[in-house]
Amino acid sequence: MNINNLKILFTEEQLQERIKKLAEEMNKFYNGEEVYAVCVLKGAVMFATDLVKHLDMPLKMEFIRLSSYNGNTSTSGKVNAVDISLPDLNGKNVLIIEDIVDTGLTAKFLLDFMNCNFHTKSTKFCSLLDKKIARVTEVEPDYYGFEVDDKFLIGYGLDYDGYYRNLRYIGYAEKSALE
Ligand code: PRP
Repeated sequence: MNINNLKILFTEEQLQERIKKLAEEMNKFYNGEEVYAVCVLKGAVMFATDLVKHLDMPLKMEFIRLSSYNGNTSTSGKVNAVDISLPDLNGKNVLIIEDIVDTGLTAKFLLDFMNCNFHTKSTKFCSLLDKKIARVTEVEPDYYGFEVDDKFLIGYGLDYDGYYRNLRYIGYAEKSALE
């Protein structure tokens, strides 16, 4: 995959502006209450770290690692909990932070996991991107930044075979460029 073939979908400025707006909504909702922000590695790392900088309540960050993609461009249809160790979240406000909801299998897995293991005060699911068209489950994020088409997206946490997570923007590649 040649980086020069990437077409820009969201610039750094568009991403940062939208993230600030999402944080404003969350600041209103939580109204100063403590929040446990759960970043789902690896994809959400950029979004989560930028988002929490604009949240103004007492906040703890937790990191879990799930994986559903086969290494490059196709989802395996199965969610692997690589590392899902979390503190006691009973009675806490939990904000799950993802980069993208695609089929929704990862989101469903996580929400079921939370329900089975904790009686939280609240559990909210936030995703920077929402690929509603690819959904095979009924989950919807409580907050999302942008709805996206069924394109292969790269950058700002989203990878191609492990690469390009460090891009400050999100781009997409035509299928032919991925072969
Ligand atoms: C991506 C993304 C979500 C998940 C969404 O993770 O970060 O966690 O896929 O897809 P779904 O809605 O179809 O379940 P991935 O498995 O690529 O791992 P990564 O975050 O380490 O890149």
